[in-house]
Amino acid sequence: MSNFLDERRARMTAALPLEDAILVVGAGEPVPLPEGSDQTYPFRSHAEYFYLTGRECSSGVVGFDPRDGAGDDWISFVPEVTESERVWEGRMQTPGAPLAQLGTWLAARGDRPIATLGAPTANALGDAALTKKIRERFTHARRAKDAPEVALIRRAAAATAAGYATLREHLRPGVTERALQIELEAEFFRAGAARPGYGTIVGSGPNAGVLHFEPSARAAQRGEFVLVDAGAEIDRYMADVTRTYVVGEPSAFQRDLFQVVLGAEERAIAKCVPGAEWKEIHLACAIELVGGLVAMGVMRGAPESLVEQEAHTLFFPHGLGHMVGLGVRDASGTLPGRAKDARQSLRTLRMDLPLAPGYVVTVEPGLYFIPALLNDPVRRARFRDCINWPLVEQHLMLGGVRIEDDVLVTTEAPEILTAAIPKTLE
Ligand code: GLY
Repeated sequence: MSNFLDERRARMTAALPLEDAILVVGAGEPVPLPEGSDQTYPFRSHAEYFYLTGRECSSGVVGFDPRDGAGDDWISFVPEVTESERVWEGRMQTPGAPLAQLGTWLAARGDRPIATLGAPTANALGDAALTKKIRERFTHARRAKDAPEVALIRRAAAATAAGYATLREHLRPGVTERALQIELEAEFFRAGAARPGYGTIVGSGPNAGVLHFEPSARAAQRGEFVLVDAGAEIDRYMADVTRTYVVGEPSAFQRDLFQVVLGAEERAIAKCVPGAEWKEIHLACAIELVGGLVAMGVMRGAPESLVEQEAHTLFFPHGLGHMVGLGVRDASGTLPGRAKDARQSLRTLRMDLPLAPGYVVTVEPGLYFIPALLNDPVRRARFRDCINWPLVEQHLMLGGVRIEDDVLVTTEAPEILTAAIPKTLE
């Protein structure tokens, strides 16, 4: 066992109020493709299992018993590799106790409550209330990334930067969203990525206003926005970056919109310091974005009041960001014991907690012209007086701008892990 995994396990168990309970963490099972062949979706261990073991091991289970002496308190159960797996996949035996011994291990602790993390484990029926509490604490305890995790995110960010660096030469009228995806992802792979960390988003023209647009055969036209949201993944850790470009010469309106988002992003990043409440950074950013739209003549009124009325959600309908690392929304959520904010405009906020050193968060404000929101008669009536609707009509097909970086919270200034990726419109 690597030292960092020993340290990680010790840190986690110290943070968990297990008392006399045992902990069982499952990796999960491969998921067959629906057509019933012998094919499965690519297997990935559940993130909670991976965090504790650093390995992909379908059916693997890790157990922890606080009553066992230090050094014997963690045990890893692994399936026996089959001949077929050796022949077809070249798989080797994973070290650990045979999975068949899990039942005996559990039976020997039969009267004890069980907290189950990771994927469900067939033999271990967890106590639901205990499991909920333990998962909440576990998630919180792993929010601050340790040094090996930060090192992997840095590598993923470097591979992501290599991908983005290749985009500019391809950003010409006529290039398809799909072609941009191919060039970007090829460069991720060349720079050491195992895969893209999530489905690459490329939207040109009006598609730039679709928050998670899957790249299509659409060709970008001169003067259109192209929004790219993508990140490379290395050893299960990933970056999550968005840049927005214009093909050819931007219009004055596009430049202004871009500058509003860029300024809001930079000021939000500067606020990512220990103790800062994420929700407050989000709301302050919403006020800045609205202030920019007021200055551009798109909205009317006092920015604070417009955000209070939730008018910003017409153009900024998502949260400011989330945690990233072992998964694209890694360990986001609320502080243990904190209820989700009931405000309608905050329902898309992916986390609600104070920041702490070691947290890696995305900061990704955006402003979009989304016909599905802006053509909605209920919203048009509700926000009749605070929007310059004729101007909005002119830009309904403009798409949008999002700018996103990954930020490491430190005891000093926030560090932008994706700073090597230029934020210029052209
Ligand atoms: N940037 C992609 C996502 O957050 O899902």
